[in-house]
Amino acid sequence: MNKTIKLLLIIGLMSLTQALPAGEARWYNTEQVKQGNLLFQQNCAVCHGANAELVKNWKQKGIDGKYPPPPLNGSAHTWHHPLDQLKKTIRQGGVQIGGLMPPFSALLNEAEMDAVIAYFQSKWPDQTYAKWADRFEVAATDPGQPDITQLLKLRLGINELATPVETEVKGVYQTRFGNKFAYLIENGRYVFIGDMVDLQNGRNLTELSRREVVNQELSVVPASSLAVFPALASEKTILNVFTDTSCPYCRKLHEEIGFLQEAGITVRYFPYPRGGSKGPGYQTLKQVWCADDKAEAMSIAKGTKVGDLPDTSDCAEASFVDEGFEMGKRLGITGTPSLFTEDGGRIVGYMPYKELIPKLLNNL
Ligand code: HEC
Repeated sequence: MNKTIKLLLIIGLMSLTQALPAGEARWYNTEQVKQGNLLFQQNCAVCHGANAELVKNWKQKGIDGKYPPPPLNGSAHTWHHPLDQLKKTIRQGGVQIGGLMPPFSALLNEAEMDAVIAYFQSKWPDQTYAKWADRFEVAATDPGQPDITQLLKLRLGINELATPVETEVKGVYQTRFGNKFAYLIENGRYVFIGDMVDLQNGRNLTELSRREVVNQELSVVPASSLAVFPALASEKTILNVFTDTSCPYCRKLHEEIGFLQEAGITVRYFPYPRGGSKGPGYQTLKQVWCADDKAEAMSIAKGTKVGDLPDTSDCAEASFVDEGFEMGKRLGITGTPSLFTEDGGRIVGYMPYKELIPKLLNNL
């Protein structure tokens, strides 16, 4: 890093630390301290004491000629070591260097080691912590406090944002509003909205998150709430379709649904009345959802089958049409048909079955 930038960063961090109430600007969060406490009591307390306070005269060798465990609560010299080295001691123990501490590499993973360190550092007085953080340029990265989404909420004029989670990139936090992902940096002073791609392996990290959201939405819906056209051969994959009975391209897709079923694709229809409750398909979709056999009623409504729809659009099942509409809005659907592959990928609009089938099957 360029020296001036580094210096500016440090000054920035120092002013940040000063602006916060005592004890809040630490690298770990309260969850880590809680988890670390449990692990510390199980693994470390026998020697270092429940509050990391033992042994008081740690400078004095025992009768075996070895040093006793030092207190880790900030009163000894633990704060002279950077995070990496503290972790190394926990991983390797002290036996190799003639000490007594056993290695923990087989018992604790990296996150658990972070947590035990967070626990004993939570015992450090602010002054000790500040000296340590200063010396090793440790930034406060706790996203919980202060709320790093505050400025973004203000600019967007909304109250709710997904809890920010740190991405693979240190110091960059992902949050979400609707179906858009935003990345907060510098404790939420700056934001960028767009896709984050790992160029080393070509993974679009934002797309993966987007698919996760789709899967979370769609997986909780039972098949009985949907109009399902099952694969005729053994099922190879599933296609979720948000549809409206009145949309021409939805009808076109429906005319070809037999080809999809024959190819081993199960099609699951979610209702999505394009125009909301005033749209042309709203009442018809409700009638379809009132039918005993939703799939058959869907075919009747889309004109590929002859028959009658139920007279009523006012039944308990019909409320799912409104739910489908809300669900679609949350997923950012703007038109019908909207297609989602089994792994949550999105295909916008109609696609002829000759293109659609290989696309779905090659995806597997
Ligand atoms: C069997 C007793 C024992 C256990 C259990 C133990 N330690 Fe230690 N620890 C020691 C001793 C003794 C030392 C001093 C170095 C040596 O002799 O190995 C030490 C040193 C350390 C140090 C270095 C302190 C410094 O200031 O340099 C850290 C950090 C530490 N222990 C953390 C832990 C953690 C975290 C755990 C639990 C996961 C743990 N220890 C479990 C005995 C123990």
